[in-house]
Amino acid sequence: MSRVMSEVSGHLGRGSPQNSVMNCFFWVLLVVSMTSLVFVAEATLPIPAPNIPEQCNSIQNCCMPSPYTGTAGIRLFEFEPNQPWRTRRPAHLLSQFELDRLERAYDLLRALPDSDPRSLLNQKNLHCLYCNNALYYPGQKYPLEIHNGWYFLPWHRMFLYWHERIIAKVLNDSTFALPFWAWDNQQDTNPPSNVIPPQYTNPNSSLYDPIRNNCSLVNPYVDFDTRGGICTNKTADYMRVQNDRLMYTQLVVGSPTPALFYGQPYYFGDFGGKGPGTFEDSPHGAVHAWVGDPYAQPPYEVLDDMGNFQRSAYDPVFYAHHSNVDRIWNLWLNIPGGVRTHPMSKAFNQSQFTFYDENANLVKMNVSHVLDSDLLRYKFEDFPAPWITNGVKAGKENTVALCNPISASAVNSLISKTPKHGSKDQINVTIPYTFKVGRPAKSRKGTEVLEFSGISIPNATANVDLKVYLFYPQALSNSTAWCPEYVGAWDFIPHIGQADYNPKRLWRVAVGPKLKQIGKDYVKSIVVTVVQTTAPPGQNITFDKARIFYDLSPRVTL
Ligand code: C2O
Repeated sequence: MSRVMSEVSGHLGRGSPQNSVMNCFFWVLLVVSMTSLVFVAEATLPIPAPNIPEQCNSIQNCCMPSPYTGTAGIRLFEFEPNQPWRTRRPAHLLSQFELDRLERAYDLLRALPDSDPRSLLNQKNLHCLYCNNALYYPGQKYPLEIHNGWYFLPWHRMFLYWHERIIAKVLNDSTFALPFWAWDNQQDTNPPSNVIPPQYTNPNSSLYDPIRNNCSLVNPYVDFDTRGGICTNKTADYMRVQNDRLMYTQLVVGSPTPALFYGQPYYFGDFGGKGPGTFEDSPHGAVHAWVGDPYAQPPYEVLDDMGNFQRSAYDPVFYAHHSNVDRIWNLWLNIPGGVRTHPMSKAFNQSQFTFYDENANLVKMNVSHVLDSDLLRYKFEDFPAPWITNGVKAGKENTVALCNPISASAVNSLISKTPKHGSKDQINVTIPYTFKVGRPAKSRKGTEVLEFSGISIPNATANVDLKVYLFYPQALSNSTAWCPEYVGAWDFIPHIGQADYNPKRLWRVAVGPKLKQIGKDYVKSIVVTVVQTTAPPGQNITFDKARIFYDLSPRVTL
């Protein structure tokens, strides 16, 4: 800015009387534009690396040991191109050697003293303090929050990177790689990959966590389409189809742009966690909730361990879950169609987060350090991901039968008899809510996005789970992503730091590709049905506005 100043005063240097009126006018203009410049710059600053031991103030006992064991100061991460390659393998296919090594790793992490930031307890605390209202920057109103927004993917990649390095160190084995729990693969194999890997369910193993949902033991197949961890009696075959179709909607048709996939922007000083990307919401969040225990008794909280940010990283399966999230992030970047790039914003790339390295010293990383996992020297073993083509043959993705197969004339009469959204209309706990939204004129560029804005949650200490369908007014709260009309979900998970502030919220999903998928790209308006799937009692939700617009990412950040 000072460079701009001196250039400008250079131009204005020689003052004639005539010039001074001009000068005055110019300076007013300059001041006005500078103010807006400053404003814009401040509104989009990157997150500076927090000083974890000093800035932590957690009412949930999530602070890390202080003083930490290590040298003073926070070093900046540097790539280590000489590290050996590490290959992350499917957890259910680990060899005996790999399993023994992994069990030894968690035995060692559990045995480290509470004064060591690398212990499993402190790894759990590190995850907790980044999201549960524990890190305040001096003078800032809101705590740091790494969920529900665009730092979700890079932050968890950093966390796992250091977790893996720490384990390599305690094992004294630099080739150690975390396994991934391939819950996204629904193929009927033996052993199956869409159950909690059996290595993690053996009560005698260090990979076991007793605070989990017992219905996963009765019906072991992971259900991406349940909330609150409530047991369902869907068959394995039903689940396979439903899960593939949910993944296809969330990751392929529903989020073909960085703005939709990564989640909403978040700058230094903002309220963090304005809205997750489609993948963070589901199935990432759904898997957490499904593993956690909805009936956990005090001192535990509902959905402990996995379904609660405070304790989730205490369950070793957390790391296998997030290793898969990390793998799917890489897959998403290579799915054809759309604009599948990282967010281009400088603030995103330059944001920094602090961790403890393998020697228990503080280290900070830029988001830009972790956007290419190859540079971090790990790879994922190839493993099939049939959801990329909707669980059917490539080319047949859009031929799946609709739940509401109606003729074009029935579509038109449905549109004409459906009312528009009114800001007082409620998304009722039990009654599905149907309204229509007009489409803008077709644009050659960009992706057509459906947006609900000004969502208000009366009670931000309780969950809200919504599911959204297109041209399916018969949808009920037990309808699932089995129906191709399913276009997305919105799940609000209360946690400390989110519930203390309750701003109005925003939800977005790509709607253009979905209309193509269900053969309704010809319509001028869409008919939207929102159902609540919140575990009872639930609460009635309102939102100010629904609209459709074009997302021009990556040129324009939403
Ligand atoms: Cu930090 Cu999967 O949560």
